[in-house]
Amino acid sequence: MKREHLGQIDSTNDEARRRADSGEKGPIWLSAKSQTKGRGRRGREWESKEGNLYTTGLYSLAVGAKQAANISFIAALAVKATISHYLKGHTIEVKWPNDVLVDGAKIAGILLESWLNDGEIKVAIGIGINIVHAPEIAEYNAVSLAKIMKNPKTVPSAEDVLIVLCDAFESLLAQWNKSGFAPIREKWLACAKGVGTRIGVRLHDKELFGVFKSLNEAGELLLELDNGNIEIISAGDVFFPHLK
Ligand code: BTN
Repeated sequence: MKREHLGQIDSTNDEARRRADSGEKGPIWLSAKSQTKGRGRRGREWESKEGNLYTTGLYSLAVGAKQAANISFIAALAVKATISHYLKGHTIEVKWPNDVLVDGAKIAGILLESWLNDGEIKVAIGIGINIVHAPEIAEYNAVSLAKIMKNPKTVPSAEDVLIVLCDAFESLLAQWNKSGFAPIREKWLACAKGVGTRIGVRLHDKELFGVFKSLNEAGELLLELDNGNIEIISAGDVFFPHLK
């Protein structure tokens, strides 16, 4: 797998887009030491100080936009596998749509961006993993590998974490190419926080509450409202009201 380590840049997702615009097809994983314009989901900033992993995988896919959205679940499972490689004896879960939590605190975030180019779908799979820094954010608890690992000498470098991540991503992607979304969806559901329980979902203009029933084929969240209706949610932030 082609990997390229860069110094400080604006955002690895922006760099992936520039590379694609100048003809790069991927697959390639770009990583940066730090980012000046790190971006999170829903227009949020992603704090990007040196020491954590900031990476974007650029891929060209021969699938439709709906299927390309599956990639964010593949990425979340790859991040989960990567974190599990370093941390034993902790509860590592995914949180819809694509956060990874250790003992309930966020350790990684994923920003998937896709666009059409020359009749193909390009995807930029942006992944941030907290290795040494855990940003202090009002909306959620964040944690880093270093905070959990007892021995500072065993804390891996961003380059090492990227190797583990790329391997995990490639093997899940191969499974998806061979067998489709169903096994990925099953794996994701098996380690997802809140499935079968009452959750809250923050949308841009309101909050909804209900039981997290499942994911559909497009990776949308199926929320059973109190009146029994199923709401299909394609974008939002999940929270756990009983833990507030
Ligand atoms: C989130 O949880 O809001 C998603 C965070 C995604 C951050 C990564 S860091 C590498 C890549 N470049 C960016 O600007 N964002 C993603």
